[in-house]
Amino acid sequence: MRTVAVVGTGLIGTSAALALTGRGLTVHLEDADPDAARTAASLGAGTTEPPVEPVDLAIVAVPPALVGKVLADCQRRGLARHYTDVASVKAGPRGEVTGLGCDTVHYIGGHPMAGREQSGPLAARADLFEGRPWVLTPTPDTDTETLNAALELVALCGAMPVVMDAAAHDRAVALVSHAPQLLSSLVAARLEHADETAVRLSGQGVRDVTRIAASDPRMWLDILSANAAVVADVLDEVATDLGAAVSALRSLAAGDEAGRQAGVAGIEAVMRRGNQGQARIPGKHGAPPTRYETVTVAIGDQPGELGRLFGEVARAGVNIEDVAIDHAAGQRVGLVQLSVAPAAARQLEATLRAHGWDVRD
Ligand SMILES: NC(=O)c1ccc[n+]([C@@H]2O[C@H](COP(=O)([O-])OP(=O)(O)OC[C@H]3O[C@@H](n4cnc5c(N)ncnc54)[C@H](O)[C@@H]3O)[C@@H](O)[C@H]2O)c1
Repeated sequence: MRTVAVVGTGLIGTSAALALTGRGLTVHLEDADPDAARTAASLGAGTTEPPVEPVDLAIVAVPPALVGKVLADCQRRGLARHYTDVASVKAGPRGEVTGLGCDTVHYIGGHPMAGREQSGPLAARADLFEGRPWVLTPTPDTDTETLNAALELVALCGAMPVVMDAAAHDRAVALVSHAPQLLSSLVAARLEHADETAVRLSGQGVRDVTRIAASDPRMWLDILSANAAVVADVLDEVATDLGAAVSALRSLAAGDEAGRQAGVAGIEAVMRRGNQGQARIPGKHGAPPTRYETVTVAIGDQPGELGRLFGEVARAGVNIEDVAIDHAAGQRVGLVQLSVAPAAARQLEATLRAHGWDVRD
C-alpha cells in the first residue's frame, strides 16, 4: 500500500494519517470543514491536494451516522480501490452502506479500539492505535484484497486486527464498554444528593466503580444512540440480576432461618459469577489474565516519594505490573498497591522493609 485518502480529518482520521505518513505513505486529506483538513496537513498528516488517480485505500473517518452517505459519495467519485471506515458501531453503518447500494465487495468495516476525550485534528497522535485492538467487520462479499488492505492499515498503525461480524461487534462493545459506562453513571448518580458526610467516606471501591462516570454526556449520547437497542438488551439482563440481588437482600433482612439461607445463596451466587467474569478480563498486552500479588506500601504525600519507591523496586529487579494508590481521607499518607509476579512478592516486601519502607500486610 502506497497511497491512502482520509475522509474526515478529526481525531481518528488524523491519527491514522499521522501514523501512515510516518511510515512513508502518501496521504490525501479531506474534510467537510476545510480548516480541519488544513490543520491536519499542517501537523504533517498529509496533503490537502486531491489524488490524481484512485488511491489504494480510503479511510472514512466521519461520525457513524454519515458513514454510508460519505462512502457512497467516495465510491461515486472513484476515490480508491478499497474502502474502510472507523465508526465505533458497525451494524447501523453497515445497514446504510447496503441500503444506499454501495459497492460492498471493496468495503470492509473497521473500528480502532482507541480514543481520547478530545476530538478534532489537534488531539490526534501518531501512536494512538499502538498495541490496541482494531476490529474489522467484513461484509458477506468483502473480497480478500480489501481485507488484506485493511490488515495492512492496521499493521502500519501498530494495532492488532480482530475480525468479527458487525452485529457481534456491537454486542461486544455494548457488554464491555457501553453498558459499563451507564452502570458507572447510575452508581455515581446515587451520590448526587447524598449527605456530605456519606460522600466523604468514599474509598477506593466507589472510586473504581465510578471513575468513568466523569465522561462527557454529549459524546456518550452519540455512542449510545447508535447502539441503543443492544445496550438496552444488556441492561435488561443486568436488571434481572439486580432484581434477584434485591430479593436475596430482602430475604437476609427478614431474619428468619429459611430467608437467611435463600439470601446467602443468592448473594453468594452473584458474587461468584462476578469473580468468574472478572477473572476473564485479559491482562496486560491482551495476555491471558494473570493473578498478581499485591505489595502494599504506605508513603508520605510529598514530592518524589513515588519516584523513590519505584526506584527501590527497580533496584530489587522486580517489574511493577500495575499500580493503584488509595488515598486515606484527611491523612497525609497514601497506600500504594504494587501488583507484582507472585514469585517476587515476599522477597520484595522483605527488601523494602529492610530499606525502611512502611510495608503493610
Ligand atoms: N473519538 C473516539 O474515541 C473514537 C474511537 C474510535 C472510533 N471513533 C469513530 O471515529 C469516527 C470519527 O470520530 P472522531 O473522534 O475522529 O470525530 P471528530 O469529530 O474528531 O472528527 C470527525 C470529522 O469528520 C468531519 N466530517 C463530518 N462530516 C463529514 C463529511 N460529510 N465529509 C467529510 N468530513 C466530514 C468533521 O468535520 C470532523 O473533522 C467516528 O465514526 C467515531 O465513531 C471515535
